[in-house]
Amino acid sequence: MFSSCRASSFSPLFHSLRLNMGFSGWRWFAALFGLLCLAGRVQSDCTEDNMNMEGGSYTLTRQLTTGSMLVYRCDDQDYHPYPVLTRTCQPNNMWKPAPQKWRPQRCKLGECPDPSVLDHGYVFPPQERYYVHNVTTYECYAGYRMKGSARRVCLPNGKWSGKTPICSRDTQSACGDPGVPPGASRTGNSFDVGNTVTYTCNGNLFLVGSKERKCLENGQWTGIEPACYYRHTYDTSLEISQAFGSSIMETLTMLDTDQTQEGRKIKVSKDGILNIYIAVDISGSIEKNQFNDVKDAVVTLIRKLASFSVSPNYEIFFFSSEIYEVVNIFEFMDKKQEERQQILQKVKDFTIGDRNTGTDLCQAYQTINERMALMKERVKEDFKEHRHVIIVFTDGAYNMGGSPLPTVKRIQDRINLVQSGRDEASKQDYLDMYIFATGAEIDDDVLKPLITTKNNERHYFRLPSSFRELQRSFDAIIDESKVQGLCGLHSMREEGKNINELIDAGNMRSYFPWYAYIIIKHGRNCFGSLVSPDFVLTAAHCFKFGDLPEDVKVVIDDGHGKEKKVKNFMLHPIYNVNAKVNEGVKDFYDYDVALIQLEEPVVISANARPICIPCTQETSDALQLVGDTTCKQQEDILFKTQMEQVSFLSKSGDKVKEKDAYVKLGDNRDECIKHALKAEGITATDPKIPVTDNFLCTGGVQPFVDDRACKGDGGGSVYKIYEYRAVQVGLVSWGTLDCDPIRGQKSDKDARDFHINLFKVLPFLKSILGVDTPDYTPLTFLEN
Ligand SMILES: *[C@@H]1O[C@H](CO)[C@@H](O)[C@H](O)[C@H]1NC(C)=O
Repeated sequence: MFSSCRASSFSPLFHSLRLNMGFSGWRWFAALFGLLCLAGRVQSDCTEDNMNMEGGSYTLTRQLTTGSMLVYRCDDQDYHPYPVLTRTCQPNNMWKPAPQKWRPQRCKLGECPDPSVLDHGYVFPPQERYYVHNVTTYECYAGYRMKGSARRVCLPNGKWSGKTPICSRDTQSACGDPGVPPGASRTGNSFDVGNTVTYTCNGNLFLVGSKERKCLENGQWTGIEPACYYRHTYDTSLEISQAFGSSIMETLTMLDTDQTQEGRKIKVSKDGILNIYIAVDISGSIEKNQFNDVKDAVVTLIRKLASFSVSPNYEIFFFSSEIYEVVNIFEFMDKKQEERQQILQKVKDFTIGDRNTGTDLCQAYQTINERMALMKERVKEDFKEHRHVIIVFTDGAYNMGGSPLPTVKRIQDRINLVQSGRDEASKQDYLDMYIFATGAEIDDDVLKPLITTKNNERHYFRLPSSFRELQRSFDAIIDESKVQGLCGLHSMREEGKNINELIDAGNMRSYFPWYAYIIIKHGRNCFGSLVSPDFVLTAAHCFKFGDLPEDVKVVIDDGHGKEKKVKNFMLHPIYNVNAKVNEGVKDFYDYDVALIQLEEPVVISANARPICIPCTQETSDALQLVGDTTCKQQEDILFKTQMEQVSFLSKSGDKVKEKDAYVKLGDNRDECIKHALKAEGITATDPKIPVTDNFLCTGGVQPFVDDRACKGDGGGSVYKIYEYRAVQVGLVSWGTLDCDPIRGQKSDKDARDFHINLFKVLPFLKSILGVDTPDYTPLTFLEN
């Protein structure tokens, strides 16, 4: 049934063996057919004589044994190894390709493709070849207008900076002149609806992007602009995060947004299912030290995708000549939400011993094809609502199993058949196939046909010879403008690293984009948190009687002015600091909350974004709750145990730092709140008088020494991190002892802090943030 890889007639046997006997079945099978007849040979074969390269060095993937790959690297990033990037140790003790005396291995200065292909314009200076850091300028003939960049610099990755310059005359054509990218030739000079243009790359350059483009009725060209790549050309992490980010985001937001259908508003996310298949090549040609980098990249990608409101199913495997399945999509589907988080650990924990050098790319796609077939059998009619994203990391040097192309074709045919009722454009939305080409020797000709194409989207990426940058690319996806609306999204915390060491004045806001600093004239300064583009949540105790909106300023650096003017502020109606003077509580802080409405909404970006607050739809999405969700469900997740870790912010010079504490809930609460009686100004004997049920209690030294809040931290958020999202559960109100100037912010056995529990002040929050007014965009509070 799935017999398209080489040795196809044995495929069914192979599959049953693998399922029953694990990898040994495959080994036996492979050995039987002599595919791995060399795998057991461990002896010094090739030599390192004359292998040195001036200006660089090399690494060996498996020392000097057969199958080992020697990978050259140049010290200076402007240079690349030449004439070859790698050599492989052959069974006959020879390197292939063999070093040649007359063409010694060296580091060669990078080049960019010839820009003088510009039509109707001049290119300065004219040169035979253009090297890294060379600058070119462009000018159009009289009567022609310039689009694109008039000045371009040749970059170390083998590409010109900026955009392709195009000189065109105003015409009546439907589509604009699509230009000629450096190094390319174009045929087709008519740009009307239905016209096509085709591109080829000159010399030994190869084409990435659309070879053919067609002018559509809407005045757009199909596909994306092609580019001519050298073998040393690669995509930078910024290019990848922008191009892959906007493409994958398209799929995620398609499942995420409200769409109107026949006048009815429907939420697609409830019906659509997203299946993501991730296959990672770990064959011998991928260096061992890259293995952890690629795992980190995969983990980052999954975590990143988890910050969207879509909850995909995952199939994740590594492959060489064998398939090492880490996450099976069917097992994953059957898991509960909490257990699904474990896939990250599974990927991280995955290790391989000595692996085979072979790459069976065909086998990898076949595994995906199989999973799809089984999925269809399992979900039947619903398969029509499934979208599939296939992401493969490989060097494309398949040397076993034959070409993956027929299998890829089968996958495409399967989806096309299922979606045959839909029009061409929407069919495309159900299958996205990406390739991240890596490793020393990328075989682009093999890989390029393995992707799907979509207008204005890139699905093929060529990485520099390391995966390290890839993690950063995936991490940066979050900064795309399309995820602006998501509450609580923030920069990744690196595992095992103290966040406070990563923070500096420059990047601080990306970690705490909701953070607000409140300055009140003649009054005290407070912390606050952005809870919607128009509102900042803070403590009522920050304000004095008689304060006016013009006395209040909110500092949020959203890149459009730091200090925000205030339109109005509202204290909780029941807040009354004197309410219990007669009961032995000098200052009573129950309902210590206030909302500040800004004159102008904050401009949302990676550095300025609201935090999630309880009992809103936005928070249900952040917690990946699906269907009709309730406030109680959120509370059960956020306050799951009787000792919940939370964080809050505290000022430290020109930065803020993140502090940690544990909320004592349930049976632990009484012990915690009784310390309130030691606070100044309290003579009451029952701790429940100053500390009502509306407070969360942190501090003390059991079971951990908590951090303690300081005076200026009042009004700030007490929050929990859930993957990439932050949910505010409390608000810093008061404490038994202020920070100790000597011992710092560590708690002692009597220090306790009390925070307003946001679940207890919902009517107030809802009465302002949840109302539909023309004045601002409301939050969607849950019915129950
Ligand atoms: C281009 O770069 C090469 C190599 O660095 C350099 O020798 C040459 O002078 C540059 N050409 C121009 C016009 O800057």
